Amino acid sequence: MFLDLVKRARSVRGFREDRPVTDEELRYLVECARYTPSARNAQVLKYALVNTPEMLQKVQPLTKWAGALKELNLPYPGTCPQAFIVICQDYRLNDSPCAFQKDVGIAAQTMLLAANELGLGGCMIASFSAGELKMVLGLEDFLKPQLVLALGAPMEDIRITDVGPDGNTTYYRDDKGTHYVPKRTLEELILK
Ligand SMILES: Cc1cc2nc3c(=O)[nH]c(=O)nc-3n(C[C@H](O)[C@H](O)[C@H](O)COP(=O)(O)O)c2cc1C
Repeated sequence: MFLDLVKRARSVRGFREDRPVTDEELRYLVECARYTPSARNAQVLKYALVNTPEMLQKVQPLTKWAGALKELNLPYPGTCPQAFIVICQDYRLNDSPCAFQKDVGIAAQTMLLAANELGLGGCMIASFSAGELKMVLGLEDFLKPQLVLALGAPMEDIRITDVGPDGNTTYYRDDKGTHYVPKRTLEELILK
C-alpha cells in the first residue's frame, strides 16, 4: 500500500554504520527524481552524491539535526548517515531563488520514498552551512545547494501520533529513545 510507504518514510536521525549506501542506490534515487514534475519543466536541479568515508566525515558536521531536540546532539556517535544527496540549483539554467523551491521538495520526497522502498531511510536537512558545503564538495559557483538528503539504514523507533487538543506539533522522544511525530488529524486538515 502506498499509504504504508508514506507512513514508513519518517525523518530518520540514526543509522546503521555497517550498512553502506552504494553508488548504484544513489544513482537509482536520482533516476527517480529525474522523472518528477518540474516548474516550466526547466529541470534546474542537480545532485551531488556523497558516500565515501572521507566525504561523509566532511559533510556531516555541516548539517544541523533535530532543532527541537538540540540537547541530544543527533545523530548519536556511531549512527551517522552513510550517504548524502545534496540537491543543488543550477543557476546557469535559471537564477530565480524562489521559483524552484517546490521542485526541490518534490524531488526530495520522491527520493525519500524510493529510499524507503530500498530498505533505507533518511532525513531532509534544510539547516546546513551552504558556503562550507559548496567548498567541501568543490561545487562551481553556479551550483547552489538547496537541500541535503541524509540517507542510511534506519535504526530508530519512530511513531506517528495525532496532534492533541493543545495543538502542539513538536516532535519528542521518551526515555527509551522512541521518537514521536504528532500529525494533525484528517478531520483537522479537510476544510468543511
Ligand atoms: C523542508 C524540510 C527541511 C527540514 N530540515 C531539517 C533539518 O535541517 N534538520 C532536521 O533534523 N530535520 C529537518 N527536517 C525534518 C523535519 O523535522 C520532519 O519532517 C518533521 O519533524 C516531521 O517528521 P517526519 O518527517 O517524520 O514526518 C526537514 C523537513 C523538511 C520537509
